Amino acid sequence: MKQHPPEPFRIKMTEPIRLIGLEAREKALREAGYNVFGIDAKNIFIDLLTDSGTGAMSQHQWAAMMTGDESYAGARSYNRLSEVMDDIFGFEHFVPTHQGRAAENILCAVALESGQYVPSNMHFDTTEGNIRARGGRPTNLVIDEAFDIRSQHPFKGNMDLEKLENFIAEVGVENIPFGMITITNNAGGGQPVSMENLRAVSEVYHRHGLPFFIDACRFAENAYFIQQREPGYAEKSTLEIARETFSLADGATMSAKKDAIVNIGGFLALNDDELFQKVCNELILREGFVTYGGLAGRDLDAIAVGLREGLDEAYLAYRLGQTAYLGERIKEAGAPIIEPVGGHAVYVDAGKLLPHIPPAEFPGQALAVELYREGGIRGVELGSVAFAHPDPDTGEMVHPQLELVRLAIPRRTYTQSHMDYVAATLGRIAERGESLRGYAITYAPELMRHFTARFEPLGE
Ligand code: F0G
Repeated sequence: MKQHPPEPFRIKMTEPIRLIGLEAREKALREAGYNVFGIDAKNIFIDLLTDSGTGAMSQHQWAAMMTGDESYAGARSYNRLSEVMDDIFGFEHFVPTHQGRAAENILCAVALESGQYVPSNMHFDTTEGNIRARGGRPTNLVIDEAFDIRSQHPFKGNMDLEKLENFIAEVGVENIPFGMITITNNAGGGQPVSMENLRAVSEVYHRHGLPFFIDACRFAENAYFIQQREPGYAEKSTLEIARETFSLADGATMSAKKDAIVNIGGFLALNDDELFQKVCNELILREGFVTYGGLAGRDLDAIAVGLREGLDEAYLAYRLGQTAYLGERIKEAGAPIIEPVGGHAVYVDAGKLLPHIPPAEFPGQALAVELYREGGIRGVELGSVAFAHPDPDTGEMVHPQLELVRLAIPRRTYTQSHMDYVAATLGRIAERGESLRGYAITYAPELMRHFTARFEPLGE
């Protein structure tokens, strides 16, 4: 049987979880409008809704929090974070933000005008939402292999350079304020981007005079994939790979809730002095003073320590090994997944598992609901509920290419036997896939609808 590397930590504090009965789970679903975001965490057995802010901090992080300096301006905690930021990212400036989307909002506020386009491999939903909220148009230009779940391409998060060149020629550089890339590509399966691709994307953007921003949420996992898979990087440390990555860019947004293994926090980093001035003004208006940006001093200390722990190679071997292990077990259990397995999550292909449910009836939603009903497991739909949107020109619904359910693994939180339980539950659902029915939306807001939409089951 396939094993993953044993956890490079032992457990010193536990948090109880329990599986409530089937009837109680069905009631919880009904009350939540069949949206698992609406279910109380106390009623969830294994919570794979997100890897964001849900990880277990280390004793070093907790200890660092006790040294937090809560001065309003110029806190020691900021200086400690600043030192780590210089060492890993090397940008001229950075501001802390309360989480990733705050960094995206501020970047869009200072750099984006209505009607402008922002290309990326794939934007995550909050980035898309922040761009759209200011009248911008997020554009995804990932390689086609990203949508072929059988393709074993080692870097399925890569940008398609030809699509990028054509896109820039088509819409005109004057209509693009900056270019982005997301590492790893969360919306496309947590797939990595190669250094070769990062370098080429940087070259294209810069040749056209476009600033290059990296959505760096999972930069450490991306660095580890590069070390494991890309020729010429096996001997480089993940820290060296991270430094090389960011040397290619002009700035980055990051949700520290991912690879910095903290429960809250993020940052916006950049080189441009003038833009930084605007960022500071916007930050002070929305988040807080430039040395804390909506966080407590102790949070900054937890991030400073977590950024280094997130790059630790024994940790990354375990981390990505655990995700790969879950993927293998789910495949064995008979559910199709995106391959190769990405960094932070296993993405189950609900469109393929439930071919009798059309995109307009949300196969991913049907699977997410069933995972909870069957096993008290919470995943998240990343398909037509999250990403279908009306075309701004024609008004017609545009569906995403894949109907996925993401099982995101919190860092250092669940053990191998939890993973076995998840795979076994999916196996039971896969066996009776034809019995599942689609869903109709009864309420949805205009943006970011998967968080609060409500549904009713069809054909009952
Ligand atoms: N960018 C990416 C690639 C993300 O995955 C996320 C968050 C964000 C930006 C926004 O960061 O939540 O701190 O505001 N992703 C979480 C997830 C929510 O579940 O994948 P945030």
